Amino acid sequence: MKNMTRVLLLALVMVLGFYSCKNQEETKADDSAIEIDRELVVSMEDTGIKIQPTMYGIFFEDINFAADGGLYAEMIKNRSFEFTLPKTGWVEPNSDRHSYNNESGFLSVIKYSEEGTNHNFARVEVKNDEGYVLINEGFRGMGVNEGAQYDFSVDAAKRSGDIQKIKLQVIDSLDNVLGETVVSPDSDSWKTYESTFKVSKTEMKARVKITFEGEGEIDLDMISLFPQDTWKGRKKGLRKDLVQLLDDMNPGFLRFPGGCIVEGRTLARRYQWKKTVGDIEDREILVNRWNTEFAHRPTPDYYQSFGLGFFEYFQLSEDMGAEPLPILGCGIACQFNTGELVPMDELDPYVQDALDLIEFANGDTDTPWGQVRADMGHPEPFNMKYIGIGNEQWGPAYIERYKVFEEAIKSKYPEIIIVSGSGPFPEGDYFEYGWEQLKQMNAEIVDEHYYKPPKWFRENADRYDSYDRNGPKVFAGEYAAQTVAIASPDNKNNWESALSEAAFMTGLERNAEVVHLTSYAPLMAHADGWQWTPDMIWFNNLESFGTPNYQVQKMYSTNPGTDLLRITENGDKIIGEGGLYASAVKDNNTNELIIKVVNTSDAVQNLSILVEGDSTQENVEVLTMAMDDLQAENSFEDPLKISPNGSSATMERNILGVTIPAQAFSIYKVKI
Ligand code: AHR
Repeated sequence: MKNMTRVLLLALVMVLGFYSCKNQEETKADDSAIEIDRELVVSMEDTGIKIQPTMYGIFFEDINFAADGGLYAEMIKNRSFEFTLPKTGWVEPNSDRHSYNNESGFLSVIKYSEEGTNHNFARVEVKNDEGYVLINEGFRGMGVNEGAQYDFSVDAAKRSGDIQKIKLQVIDSLDNVLGETVVSPDSDSWKTYESTFKVSKTEMKARVKITFEGEGEIDLDMISLFPQDTWKGRKKGLRKDLVQLLDDMNPGFLRFPGGCIVEGRTLARRYQWKKTVGDIEDREILVNRWNTEFAHRPTPDYYQSFGLGFFEYFQLSEDMGAEPLPILGCGIACQFNTGELVPMDELDPYVQDALDLIEFANGDTDTPWGQVRADMGHPEPFNMKYIGIGNEQWGPAYIERYKVFEEAIKSKYPEIIIVSGSGPFPEGDYFEYGWEQLKQMNAEIVDEHYYKPPKWFRENADRYDSYDRNGPKVFAGEYAAQTVAIASPDNKNNWESALSEAAFMTGLERNAEVVHLTSYAPLMAHADGWQWTPDMIWFNNLESFGTPNYQVQKMYSTNPGTDLLRITENGDKIIGEGGLYASAVKDNNTNELIIKVVNTSDAVQNLSILVEGDSTQENVEVLTMAMDDLQAENSFEDPLKISPNGSSATMERNILGVTIPAQAFSIYKVKI
């Protein structure tokens, strides 16, 4: 009888024609009773389980040109001639190193100091200003937009002769000039010259051409070109379209700066946050760990300028309302590379870096590191609450070192929550050992990583159901479905991978009691400069788009809710039977019930969702991502091909009758 009532009510609802979705045929409304395939029940009874505001966040690593060449909007590659091959990125088309270049000139790199953080500058001898040309190729070219303004700056010191002008031109592949400006050096001491100009035509692969008026010798450093239209209009800031994509996610936290680059291939090449703050010219360049990591994707010109450094990461977190979550090295170089260990009696500087970072983020302005933050323009504390120790470390060497960090941090800053790690895999002996040890130590949050096939995600929606409710909380810190194999260059950000992640994420949400933070990884990739795929966001020098995986993440992170609810079918959790997955939350701020349903099967499913224990309003907002082709992807040409479509449905006497398309992820929202 109960079933019959629900069939009739569902039929009534469906004749209203409530469903529409791009790329799917519209469900035809008719007046016959619709056979219900599944009956789900949401209980409005309080579970007492909160969805943490940090539940859905962002993992940022400078991989795939995500920082230099990506988020950090500097357009000149190797602006300060500090790369190992110091002329990387620069060419002098009219010069020959085996000639006196009497008809042009020549650039020599002066290594003026092995000490400190800035070692080189360029000395240009202009012998014939009609002939000498210096070109920078950018990061696989430079993207410029018609009508947009650009800021050029250069540090220069005249040495001999009389060079009166430095001219910068933006040129296309045919050497057409798209915009230009001139500065006039007037001093034999180092001085910064700045100028702004407009570009007349959009070009994705522009280059910068520098020429001179007058002959002689001039020293140059920090040759820089930025768009003016950056995120929040900050000078020398971040690429606006890329930050916008992140901000649109309403992220709960921003984890930075990685990833393996935290650890470095060797200890000497680990990420040292102190070298990434203060004046930009004093931030010491470091070869990027992903430079030579994959023989199939060598990127010898990949370095870290640290223009996007720790201050900027904190600022970005603040801009987005996300908790900053820095991850620091723990005295172990990447265990996939050298795995170098710092001896235990030499660990102090590493621990001190962690303590000093807390002071930098939160300390008063009369503390040494609080003062550095204030000098950079942020006297208010960043209110950092979390710190991660070690990225993806494993084994006794990690636990031994982690204990020292924990002791030091907790004695000085008991309020700081420490994130530890369980290694690179979601199972196996490293994982078991790490968890066992960390549990014994009452660790607060353990970072887990899983790069697995889409099927694994579909089959593991119950992963956290059995986790100890009284043990450490989980940070699902890096995960992504790999369509071919882990880090294979053939992996795709296709709908199958995103749909499988959506299915898995119902399990993250259902286990919000244990799972407190989650993030997809890696975040971004330059279409011409990537090392690792899949990635959540792809960009080139002009455009960017979110993959279906991004859209799934965004569906969750913009509909997180505040309190977990129970959703069941025949009293059981919904974890993949017949391809159906579901989770439910309520949002106490917006007074909404939010139901997430994923259908990974190739059949449409007619659902009847009964809401028990509270009455809801009638109008249901529906967001659906659906696609019959599991191999389909978003692209620069069709960036929203797989993205949510809005429609509406009606709740009748607390029963929602809806048809979820095949291979679809839907969110149903109704006011309570
Ligand atoms: O996300 C890419 C890499 O995968 C990360 O740097 C590392 O932590 C993991 O192995």
